[in-house]
Formats: sequence, structure tokens, C-alpha cells
Amino acid sequence: ELIKKEIKNFQITNEKQLEAFRLEFLSRNGKVQEMFGMMGNVPNEKKAEMGKAMNKVKILAQEKFEDSKSNLQSASRKEFGAKDDITLPVEPTYTGSFHPLTQALDEIKQIFLRLGFNIADGPELEDDFHNFTALNFPPDHPARDMQDTFFVRKSDQPDEQDLVLRTHTSPVQIRLMKDQQPPLRSIMPGRVYRNEAVTAKSYFQFNQVEGLYVDKNVTMGELIETLVMFAKLMYGSDVKYRVRPSFFPFTEPSIEMDVWWENEKGGQWLEILGAGMVDPNVFEAVNVDPEIYTGFAFGMGVDRIAMLRYGIDDIRLLYENDLRFLNQFKS
Ligand code: PHE
Repeated sequence: ELIKKEIKNFQITNEKQLEAFRLEFLSRNGKVQEMFGMMGNVPNEKKAEMGKAMNKVKILAQEKFEDSKSNLQSASRKEFGAKDDITLPVEPTYTGSFHPLTQALDEIKQIFLRLGFNIADGPELEDDFHNFTALNFPPDHPARDMQDTFFVRKSDQPDEQDLVLRTHTSPVQIRLMKDQQPPLRSIMPGRVYRNEAVTAKSYFQFNQVEGLYVDKNVTMGELIETLVMFAKLMYGSDVKYRVRPSFFPFTEPSIEMDVWWENEKGGQWLEILGAGMVDPNVFEAVNVDPEIYTGFAFGMGVDRIAMLRYGIDDIRLLYENDLRFLNQFKS
């Protein structure tokens, strides 16, 4: 009778109490087992009656345990509440977005991978040889001027080179040709630096993608065909383009490509890249025989392409990481 009362009075309102109840009454050392253990002291003629009574206590404890357990479970299910239909889609959570430069670069990479180019890489801190000399820049070329180039080390020793933040991705061409024998067909994306005034149109850093193709019998026709293919894949097959003669120290002949850009006032030609046939002097600087090999190279600005594509009118926005700007580029 005493145990019955204890069982009835035991409060079970949470999982902890449920477990405490089980330990106290139903476990191997619990009170119900202990009670059955006292059977030995019961006189024989009372054993049957006592056994029945004890069984009732055991059943009472078990029922209380099971009932409490299922009550607790349905209570916790109610906490979700019927209004929370678990089959409904969850509320959207904040996700990041790819930077417009990354998106434009990805598109450029995809196009050239399709055309059979692989991707190569080089350092942003360059020496004079790779950034200028091997690329056939004369010693007094204005691009070497303090105005354009960030010099990290200006040297007056003959055996020590100037170190610069690379002003273009073309030094990666030099590294590639020094390291590998032709045929070569790579694009080389990367950040470049120029010591220019910061305005809406120019910044002290930007991104280029360089391209280099070197093999036997590479022609100017193939260069133009590759660039036209690029322009069509990038801007649509109806893109209006033109190719003009130009000059770069490291290509001969050199060209530039423009695309026609529609706007409210009608439209205008916009330069999208520079290119040309690799100058024999460049091949000689990296010990590639210009009598055997020819090649073409091109270089384009990723910032310009991203700005055209997304109608961005200030290059500084690309480097300020303002979330109000970046959040507009979720795809
Ligand atoms: N390196 C040149 C620039 O920065 C672009 C270019 C690359 C031109 C390759 C021709 C060939 O302006």
C-alpha cells in the first residue's frame, strides 16, 4: 500500500523525472523488485494473495511510466505546433553571391576552355625582366616610368633587378615559355597594378586575362578568328565588332578589338582587348626559335567587361565591397 501511494504521488512532468521514476521503481534495484524480494518472508498460505497484490503494484508502476512517456512525447510534438507544417519550404536564409568580377571571369574562362586553352598563373610581384625587358620594352619606354609602375624595389646595382607590382599579365607569358616547350595554349587571369589617379574610370588595380598560343604555323587569321569567336560567345552572335591596327612592344603586328555598344544616345565603339603576333624578340628572350614557332597573344580587362555587362559606371564599386552593391548580383 505504501509503494502504491508513492507511485501515485510521483510527479512526472519532464524527461528527467520520467527517468528518475524508472530508476526508483522499475529498474533492477528499484522498489518493485525489492518488494518481490520480500516474498520470502511471506507465510506460505498468504503467498498467492500477496503475489497478486504485488503484481498490481508492478502493473500500476509500468502503466504510469508508459502513460507519462507518451504524454511527454505528444507534448513535445505540440511544441512544434500544428501551424508549423513540416512539409512547408523553410524560410529563405541569407546566401552570398559571386562578385561581378568573378562572374565575368568565369564566363571568360568557360569560353577559352571550350576553345582548348588551359589556365596558367604567375606572381603579382615581378622583376623587371619578366614585366618589361623580356617583353621587348626599350629601356626608356614610358610604361617603365614612375608614373605608371609601382616600384617595390628600385635598384642601382647592375646584378640586382627592379621589383614591380606587375603592370599587366603578359609576364606570365614569359614564365610559361621559359618553363614549357611549345605547343602552348593558355589563358592567364590575374590582378595587375598601375600607379594611376583613382577615378570612376581608372583604379590602381584591376584584372586582366592574358592569352597565349604558340605552335608551328600559328597565323594572324587564327588570332582574329579566335577573338571573333570570343566576342560572339561573350556578347552574342549578332555582336558588331571591328579590328584595328595598334602597337605593343611584345607583338608585331598588333591589333585592338572594339565592340559596338548600344546606349541611349545611339552607341559607341568600346575597346575590349589588345592582341598581336608574338614579337620574335620575345621568343628570343625565352629561347624559343622564331624560325620554327609563331604565336599570338591577347590581353583583356576583366573590369571593363564586367562593367559593360552589368551597367556599372564606376570601377571603384568593384573594390569597395559595399553589400548594397554586391547584393544586386545574386544569380
Ligand atoms: N599587356 C597588354 C596591356 O596590358 C595587353 C596585351 C596582351 C596586348 C597581349 C597584346 C598582347 O595593355
